[in-house]
Amino acid sequence: MATILLIHGPNLNQLGRRDTAHYGSSTLKDIEAMVAAEAKKCGFAVKAFQSNHEGALIDWLQAESTDAVGIIVNAGALTHYSYALHDALADTGLPAVEVHLSDIATRENWRRLSVTAPACIAQIAGKKEKGYLEACALLCDRLNSKKA
Ligand code: DQA
Repeated sequence: MATILLIHGPNLNQLGRRDTAHYGSSTLKDIEAMVAAEAKKCGFAVKAFQSNHEGALIDWLQAESTDAVGIIVNAGALTHYSYALHDALADTGLPAVEVHLSDIATRENWRRLSVTAPACIAQIAGKKEKGYLEACALLCDRLNSKKA
């Protein structure tokens, strides 16, 4: 089965214990299981990774993207300033969908800018864990339409 990478940045390992008004009550494990189940329906496997360290995320993307077909990414706060992660995503050459649990457009000014979004085909924000289902469906459609 072709593989979709699901990558999470800093503090997302704390989901379930973070501000539920912004981030919902699902844990990262819940989200990873939900995305894997959704992707399986469309014929894709999911490989998931979370790190609090920018370099570890980049190393993992470099290592895993050669055998993958697409990416779902929530880079946490790195979204707002990591040009290195932008470049790592772009360098994979894979379609990536950016997800944010919270609505970053309506929060603090500094959260409104995503420097990683230009390396992605879409951004889904403000739908809590449901945003991942949307991202998965969007990516699967894109990948399956390429096959046809
Ligand atoms: C987040 C939004 C970021 O601004 C924040 O730093 C996060 C989570 C989200 O999913 O809403 O850690 O990416």
